Amino acid sequence: MYKAPRGTSDILPEEQAYWRYVEDKAIALCTLYGYQRLETPVFEDFHLFVRSIGEETDIVTKEMYTFKDKGGKKLTLRPEGTAPVCRAYLEHGLYNLPQPVKLYYLATIFRYERPQAGRYRQHHQFGFEAIGDGDPALDAEVIDMTRQFYSTLGLTQFSFKLNSIGCWLCRPEYVKALKEYYSRHISSLCPDCQTRLERNPLRLLDCKKLACLNLAELAPKSIEYLCPKCQSHFDKVQEYLVVLELPFQLDHKLVRGLDYYTRTVFEVQPQTEAGAQTALGGGGRYDDLIEELGGKPTPAVGFAAGLERIITNLVKQGISPPTLPRATVFIAHVGSETEKEAIKIASKLRQAGIPVIAAVGDRSLKAQLRQANSLDCHYAIIIGTEELKTQVVTLRDLLSGEQKAVAITHLQVLLSQDKG
Ligand code: HAM
Repeated sequence: MYKAPRGTSDILPEEQAYWRYVEDKAIALCTLYGYQRLETPVFEDFHLFVRSIGEETDIVTKEMYTFKDKGGKKLTLRPEGTAPVCRAYLEHGLYNLPQPVKLYYLATIFRYERPQAGRYRQHHQFGFEAIGDGDPALDAEVIDMTRQFYSTLGLTQFSFKLNSIGCWLCRPEYVKALKEYYSRHISSLCPDCQTRLERNPLRLLDCKKLACLNLAELAPKSIEYLCPKCQSHFDKVQEYLVVLELPFQLDHKLVRGLDYYTRTVFEVQPQTEAGAQTALGGGGRYDDLIEELGGKPTPAVGFAAGLERIITNLVKQGISPPTLPRATVFIAHVGSETEKEAIKIASKLRQAGIPVIAAVGDRSLKAQLRQANSLDCHYAIIIGTEELKTQVVTLRDLLSGEQKAVAITHLQVLLSQDKG
């Protein structure tokens, strides 16, 4: 027996209501904030991700699904959504539109991670990106939009972590201070962090090993090294969040796992759990990325949420999505002539917008009605040989058990009045 690959899962019919609920809320939210949908390919040029996410990140060094196609081109399954959006922004000249350009996506994401609760090799993200403006009001708007997203889903127990990691001008000083600090404690670091120290010291703040966590607590803080422009930007973001009555906690250990961030970074944590595996979503500003990918200097800010983690939290908080519409009418019949009539009636009713399941095969009437009940149909139309002659069928209300004789020509009108 084959199984779905490790870290991936099937989304079964009974789970679909959650997915539709979250996706519908995401799409409605984007209309509310003026974001338009963008779909990009599932795979992209390998170098796009190395360039944007960063050579020394876990995603690039360990987690990308990279392969050569038959033409020898090195491609990577999308490990995140921001770089493809920026690539498309440049490729299609979206910089010619009024800025900022606001785009969103619902996308499948692939990361070769060690599967565990809330961490999969294939997951889904809802993300949005505002490209082309550096105003701190936009950072605050993106964070507010994030809050609105979780609130409209009915989630209540979540909180915001916020930090600023500065820019190309002030970050080097900070990184130097971090290196000095960690070099003094190198023997206490986990083996991974000992090697990261030289190449990407910011990542050390992110490490979840106990010894490294304790060291990170006392490490120098990026907000103490901000240049005047980054400082003023960060002050304004916080002021706007206060105006928006959006509570947040400053967290100097928040650096995010992708290298493209500048200035504002933020994450949403469910309050019920601690630990890094559980972030409901994360984002921030990435003012240098478009330029890095060959465009003009173009500031941008965005966010992405993991849909699996959201659904887990909806279930935990006892939030049920609306049930999905399903077939309300079942057509049962006995024998081949009646099957023809069943097919005809089913087609007519569907053309009239009435969702119908028609029995197939030669099961007993009892078995067919059992199936109608298990499919939660409201009505069964029963066609026997007598009904075929008279063109009058039996319409049974499966909820009340009542039944009546109805002329075939009258079925459509009757069932249209009562689609439930
Ligand atoms: P990220 O934090 O790597 O950011 O991923 C965003 C969210 O996706 C996470 O907060 C989490 O909810 C979910 N997620 C990530 N990895 C997994 C996984 N293996 N299994 C299940 N869920 C997962 C980004 O990807 C950035 N592109 C976000 C962004 C948009 N920044 C600016 N714009």
